[in-house]
Amino acid sequence: MKTILITGGAGFIGSHVVRLFVNKYNEYNVLNLDALTYAGNLENLKDIEKAPNYSFVKGDITDQHFIDKLFKDNDIVGVVHLAAESHVDRSITDPLSFIRTNITGTMNLLNACKDHWSSFEGRRFYHISTDEVYGSLGETGLFTEKTPYDPKSPYSASKASSDHLVRAYHNTYGLPVVITNCSNNYGPNQFPEKLIPLSINNLRNEKEIPIYGKGENVRDWLYVEDHALAIDLVYHKGKTGETYNIGGNNEWTNIDLIRLLCKIMDEKLDRKKGTSASLITFVKDRAGHDKRYAIDSSKIKRELGWTPSLTFEEGLEKTVVWYLENVEWLENVTSGAYISYYAEMYNR
Ligand code: NAD
Ligand code: DAU
Repeated sequence: MKTILITGGAGFIGSHVVRLFVNKYNEYNVLNLDALTYAGNLENLKDIEKAPNYSFVKGDITDQHFIDKLFKDNDIVGVVHLAAESHVDRSITDPLSFIRTNITGTMNLLNACKDHWSSFEGRRFYHISTDEVYGSLGETGLFTEKTPYDPKSPYSASKASSDHLVRAYHNTYGLPVVITNCSNNYGPNQFPEKLIPLSINNLRNEKEIPIYGKGENVRDWLYVEDHALAIDLVYHKGKTGETYNIGGNNEWTNIDLIRLLCKIMDEKLDRKKGTSASLITFVKDRAGHDKRYAIDSSKIKRELGWTPSLTFEEGLEKTVVWYLENVEWLENVTSGAYISYYAEMYNR
């Protein structure tokens, strides 16, 4: 059977993409390749792990020989590449692991496609990237597919570099590639180092919520399942060589977002109004903190008919409910190494 390789499929976005592809496409074997770093978790895929068209392989994309053998042993017709180091704060303290996975790892996959695909007919390398490659916006304006790259953090610089490599392999070797740059995702299964799940977890434990600076930075939030639907569309219908921006058209300052989250948490936990908001704490700002991201996603809407399905209020409520119903998942991922990560990161 033909195989689609999904890298990083045990992570947050990857697990939603794997589930969608496994449930929707019986004609492919969906092969999930993941190194199971701190961010990868096979618990995210419990419901589909026995599906006949699903398989999992543990491996590291920085290991060129492993990738080479994987391509020799499987009839891989397409790659949906999500594996990455994804957290900006970690890229500030440990940039090298971002360079290794996000740049070298991507190049290993590109080389494997170039070397193992005897013809590029019907093949596709799909690189999942971020809006952070475009840098930071002022009060107005939106990132379009034509916005010049201006990455500001080690994370975004590593993703920008991988985007450039993907385009270079298209230009130089004719590799059939497609790239999407997406805004901030939220939803079930997100590791609680990112703003929303970290805050849900802290509020659940009546711990303070650390807001960087004054909470005035702006992000454009998209529910993860809407991103997965966009990825499905672009993989199957996107034009080779093209880039599509994906965003929620849903800008929030961090402080307004957290106030809304606090309101939902008070309701769901039956706490007195204002209890959660009293835990908001302003802390030292992130180094080089990008001010504002906002995406113009008119191209993917116009050309492929994609549009987000949920409002932010609906998506945030669904997210809170998922975390409160999956406390065991949260407790598993916040034990062990998370405790020292949190203590070092937040001096608490
Ligand atoms: P995540 O950190 O939750 O998951 C990353 C996955 O990659 C994990 O399962 C991890 O085990 C795996 N991985 C890491 N290093 C690996 C390696 N060397 N070899 C194999 N597997 C490895 O990340 P996410 O938030 O799900 O993001 C997925 C992709 O989407 C990333 O490429 C990220 O840059 C991009 N993206 C994320 C967002 C967002 O808001 N989270 C937005 C836009 C784009
Ligand atoms: O824009 C897409 C990007 O969104 C993805 O490429 C990244 O993989 C993903 O991590 C995300 O990056 P951000 O840095 O925007 O996400 P994060 O959840 O870390 O932070 C969101 C905002 O909240 C940001 O302005 C920083 C702020 N923040 C974050 C944390 C973890 C806080 O104020 N306090 C915190 O403790």
